[in-house]
Amino acid sequence: MCGIVGYIGTRQVVDILLNGLEQLEYRGYDSAGVAVMGENKINIYKAEGKLENLSSELLIHKDEYKNSTLGIGHIRWATHGAPNVINAHPHTCNCGRLVIVHNGIIENYKELKAELEKKGAKFRSQTDTEAVAHLIAYIYNDTKDLTEAVRLATKKIEGAYALCVMHSDKKDELVATKRNAPLLVGVGDDEYFVASDVPAIIPYTKRAMYLNDNQIVTLTRNDMTLIDAEGKELPKKVETLPWEPVALSKMGYKHFMLKEIHEQPDVIRNVLVGKLHSAQTPIKLDEVKLNKDTLKNLNRIQIIACGTSLHAAMIGKYIIEDFCGISVDIEASSEYIYRKTVTDEHTLVIGVSQSGETADTLTAIKQAKAKGSHVLIITNRPDSAMAREADSLIPVNAGIEVSVAATKSYIAQLVSFYLLAIYMAEIKNTMSSKALYEIKSEMMLVPQKIEQILSHKETIKQCAQHYANTKDFIYVARGINYPTALEGALKLKEISYINATGYPAGELKHGPIAMLDESMPVLSILMKGSVYEKLLSNSEEAKARNARMIALTNSKDEKLKDLFEYIIEVPDIQELLSPLIAMIPLQLIAYYIAEYLGKDVDQPRNLAKSVTVE
Ligand code: M6R
Repeated sequence: MCGIVGYIGTRQVVDILLNGLEQLEYRGYDSAGVAVMGENKINIYKAEGKLENLSSELLIHKDEYKNSTLGIGHIRWATHGAPNVINAHPHTCNCGRLVIVHNGIIENYKELKAELEKKGAKFRSQTDTEAVAHLIAYIYNDTKDLTEAVRLATKKIEGAYALCVMHSDKKDELVATKRNAPLLVGVGDDEYFVASDVPAIIPYTKRAMYLNDNQIVTLTRNDMTLIDAEGKELPKKVETLPWEPVALSKMGYKHFMLKEIHEQPDVIRNVLVGKLHSAQTPIKLDEVKLNKDTLKNLNRIQIIACGTSLHAAMIGKYIIEDFCGISVDIEASSEYIYRKTVTDEHTLVIGVSQSGETADTLTAIKQAKAKGSHVLIITNRPDSAMAREADSLIPVNAGIEVSVAATKSYIAQLVSFYLLAIYMAEIKNTMSSKALYEIKSEMMLVPQKIEQILSHKETIKQCAQHYANTKDFIYVARGINYPTALEGALKLKEISYINATGYPAGELKHGPIAMLDESMPVLSILMKGSVYEKLLSNSEEAKARNARMIALTNSKDEKLKDLFEYIIEVPDIQELLSPLIAMIPLQLIAYYIAEYLGKDVDQPRNLAKSVTVE
C-alpha cells in the first residue's frame, strides 16, 4: 500500500506525477503529496484525503512549479501516524534539502529515530519514513554522494520499502531503491519514470526495468545506473511491457464496482476461452507446469490467500477435494507465515491474489518455494511479484479492477479453480464421464445465467434498500456456499461499514442464535442440493427467534413464502457450480445498501486495493 512515483526529464513534472498518482490511488487515499525541484529549493505540496485535494492545492501554486522537470510523489495508506498533512509524504531532513517518498514499513524506525535525535534530528511527523529521510541526510552530509548515502542507509534499515529520493544539491538526479515492495523504472527518451506499478508509467513508455530487492538505481536526464547493495554496477534489463494504456472509465455506471459486477459474464467467457472448448473435450491448462505423473500421484495441496481471494480458495478446496479426492489445506497467508508449516517438495502450494502483490501471500509463497514446493499462482496481474515467483501461473484475465471491493476478480478466480479441479480430475480419472460432461456443459451456461440475474437487479435493489438501515447482518449457508456467505458479509462490511458476519448455518445454534431478534436480518443462501433441507431447518430455527428472514434461492418451493419476508430468485444450477451464481445478488445487495447510505463505494474508508505491508 501507498504508491510512489518519480520523474526526471524535460516535461513539466507536476502533471506527470499527478497522472501517475491517479493511477496508483487504488493503493491508498489517506493523503497525497509531491515534491518538485525549484530553482533554489525543493517545493513540497501535500493534502489530506484523496488526490483531488492535492490537485486543488497545486492549482493555487502553479506559478511556483511550472518550469520544474524533476520530482517525486506519494499516495498514502496510513500505517504509522494519523492520516493528516503532517504525516503525508514527501518527508524531509531538518533543512528540507533531502526529500523522500516511501512505500512499506521501517521496522526499526524507533531505534533509528532515537539514534538520529541524539545527533540533532528534529522529527515533525509520527511516521516511520521520516527516520529514513534524516538517516540518508546525515550520511549524505559526509559523502555528498546521494546514491552512496542511500546505499549506506539501506544497510541500517530493517523492514520493507520502496524509496525515491531527491536532494536540492542534485538538480539532475533521482535515486530509488526497494526491498520487499514493488518498484519499476520507466525508460523514455531523455526521461525516466519511477513507480510502484505499471499503470503510472504506461501512458508515457512501455520500456521498463523492474528493480530487484536491494538494487539501487540512479537516474539522470540521459542516463541510468544500477548497482547492488555492495555498490557493484549491474547490467540493466529493460523490457517491453505487454500493456496498452487503458482509459479507466465507468462507462456510464455510477461506480466502478457496479460496472465491474456487470462485466462478470464476459470475464467468465474470457477465462474459459482456449481452456474449455466443449463439454466432450478435456480441459486444456498448459499453464500448469507439473508433469502428469506428478499430478496423478499428488495427494496434498495447500492454498494460501487473503480476504476475498481466501474465500475463493475455500471454494477451491471444496471442489478439488470433491472432484479429485486430493486433501487440501487452506490458510490465511498472514497466519501461514508465522508458524511451522508442514510443506515440502511433495506439496503443491497455490497462492491466490487479485493484485499479485499482497505482502502476506508473497511471503508465504516464498517460504513454500524455499521448502521445495511447486508454487502455482492464480492472479489477475501476470506481471506481479507473485507471478514472477510462480512455477505455474494461471492469469485470470479479469481486466483491471478499480473498485477496492473485489467482484469480477473473485468470479474469475472461482472459474480458474473449477478449470484446475476438472483438469486434475481428468488426469487422475476421479470423475465419471457423465459428471464431467454435466459440469462442463453447465459451466458454459453460467455467463447467461448471470446476465439473467443482472437484468433483474431492480428487485435486488429494492430488497437491499429495505434492509439498508440495519446495524447488523447475518449470512448463512452450508457446504460449498459457506464461503459465499463469508464473501457476501465481507462485501457488505467493506463498503457499507455494517457489521456483517457469515456463518455455517449449522453453527447458529452453537452461539450466534443468541443475537437473533426482530431487528436482525438473516440471509440464507438456499441453493438446491445436498444441504438444502438442513439449511431450511436452520432457517426455521432463526425465524422462530423472529429474525428478518431473506432467501437467496434457485428453488421454487411454495413453502418458502411463509418462512421468508424476501425471496431473491436465481436461475437453476447444479449445487457444485452454485457459488458462481449465488455471489452475484450478494455483490448487488452490498452495492445498493452502500449506495443508498451514501458511502464511498469504490474507495471505502481505511482500505486499499493492494496490501503490500504485512
Ligand atoms: O490482491 P489480493 O487478492 O491478494 O488481495 C487480498 C485482499 O486484500 C482483498 O481480497 C480484499 O479483501 C478486498 N478488498 C476484498 O474486496
